[in-house]
Amino acid sequence: MINLHRCQQGILAESNLHSLYLMFNLKTEEVDEVKQQLACFQGMINEFSEEYSESELSAFIAIGALAWDNLFPNARPRELMAFPQFENAKYPVPDTPADLFVHIRSDRADVNHLVGTHVCELFADKVMLVEQVKGFRYLDGRDLTGFVDGTENPHGEHRRAVALVSREQDEVFAGGSYIHTQRYRHSMHMWNELPTKQQEDIVGRTKVENIEYKSADKPPCAHIKRANIKDEQGKSIEILRQSMPYGTMRHQGLFFISCANTPTAFNKMLERMVCVDEQGHYDQLLDYTQAETGAAFFAPSIDFLRQYL
Ligand code: HEM
Repeated sequence: MINLHRCQQGILAESNLHSLYLMFNLKTEEVDEVKQQLACFQGMINEFSEEYSESELSAFIAIGALAWDNLFPNARPRELMAFPQFENAKYPVPDTPADLFVHIRSDRADVNHLVGTHVCELFADKVMLVEQVKGFRYLDGRDLTGFVDGTENPHGEHRRAVALVSREQDEVFAGGSYIHTQRYRHSMHMWNELPTKQQEDIVGRTKVENIEYKSADKPPCAHIKRANIKDEQGKSIEILRQSMPYGTMRHQGLFFISCANTPTAFNKMLERMVCVDEQGHYDQLLDYTQAETGAAFFAPSIDFLRQYL
């Protein structure tokens, strides 16, 4: 009986200075070889992380919801589903599926680059690179809007409970994680024209000191009001956000990443953000940033992938 609990370490990683995101589509029907390459992925990362130990390198690889059955027709994570679509969305929610998502993070951009080139060599002619984005830490962990991002993320052991599928949820896929990505492009000029108080009302926290508004003061359209959701028992529904800013002088924004033990957490949050409710409320942050991509993946445990060595 194999131990199905060893997760890919990059899922739980604490924040770093640099990231590299690679999206691939499969070019081949020879999935047996791709499965062997997937099985080798974490071993390769371990070697680099030993060689450049000071860089705090970590990574994970995730398989697209639509590509899953092609690669692993005999077993599917119970809740794996396509990126959500909403009928009454105020803004477009692009669905741009990819077959593989590689998430590389460390404190050295050169190490990320080196690892990225080896990932491309590993899969070689079996895949086509469809997206590459470099993320970076901005100031003291802020989004480019100037607000600290990640404050209410789960901490310590709780990260594991939020981000990883448990044995009770899905015996075969325990230790895996449902991943969602969205590349948001900010309208920086529009945002920067807003007075700070108005920006703070849109986020629901103060800008410089990063203090959460009191419940009674939080506008119903504030981002943290929309994204903070509870289940029927009143318990918070949580995700682990691994997002980082990206960009050039022309286009910039947030590469949003959610890791969770169920895809419904992200799906419900996004619905609350983009759909206008009966009171006319939606997430006002979306007036100043636009999703340009969106994709759903599953990052299986190391043990699941290693079966195919
Ligand atoms: C451009 C896009 C986004 C930006 C700039 C952004 C920024 C922020 C900021 C500044 C905070 C407050 C600090 C913190 O707790 O991290 C926050 C909180 C949060 N965001 Fe976002 N976010 C974005 C998109 C999303 C999306 C797409 C989701 C989920 C679908 C999401 C879920 C959350 C959650 C769950 C919180 C914590 C709420 C709480 O309990 O206080 N965010 N975000």
